[in-house]
Amino acid sequence: MDASDWNARYLAQPDVWGTTPAARIVAEVTNAEDHGLTVGTAIDLACGDGRHARWLAAHGWDVTAVDFSEVAIEQARDKDSDEGRSGHVDWVVGDATTWSPAEQVDLVVIGFLHLELDALTRVISEAGRWLRPGGHLVYLGHAPENLARGVGGPQDPTVLPTVADLARGAADLEVVSLRHDLRPAGQATAVDVLLHARNWERR
Ligand SMILES: C[S@@+](CC[C@H](N)C(=O)[O-])C[C@H]1O[C@@H](n2cnc3c(N)ncnc32)[C@H](O)[C@@H]1O
Repeated sequence: MDASDWNARYLAQPDVWGTTPAARIVAEVTNAEDHGLTVGTAIDLACGDGRHARWLAAHGWDVTAVDFSEVAIEQARDKDSDEGRSGHVDWVVGDATTWSPAEQVDLVVIGFLHLELDALTRVISEAGRWLRPGGHLVYLGHAPENLARGVGGPQDPTVLPTVADLARGAADLEVVSLRHDLRPAGQATAVDVLLHARNWERR
């Protein structure tokens, strides 16, 4: 799907992903913070209408949230407010395959970005280079195993990364966790794939 397809989807179905962040992303970021990741600057890549960026900002992160759908970014801005929180979100229209930040950050979150697999692997690998030493990257997406065993998500296997695809993207990083993740989805269970990796500390 290109940006205009996504624009049409957001116009047809505002709040399409709900307002709560994915529990697995919350768990991975919280766990990293509990084990020494200092709250600082973050990127939410392919942020959609912003549920993860807003959650991060509510927990003190200064977030740059990027999506190539102008409609998603407009909806995200409408839903956002700095009131009562210490973090802030900059909303940016940008293509994940070409955009890059001006400075390195402490955290990159990528939730449910599905591209042709070589492109996705390149995006993850590039996003790893945006991390400061010790910074964390969390990718969560629909697994190909979801087609037979799960529910929802894209039905095109050419955009569903395996654990091995994510491992290729993380080749230059220290892998914290790389595995399937089962997610309750109504009466069913969805099969996601998780990569949590860290930029090597300088020693
Ligand atoms: C399934 S939605 C997930 C949105 C959000 N991460 C979440 O979990 O709520 C996928 C998002 O990826 C965005 N996207 C797809 N390809 C992109 C690209 N090349 N660059 C930037 N965003 C892209 C879409 O516009 C859409 O908002």
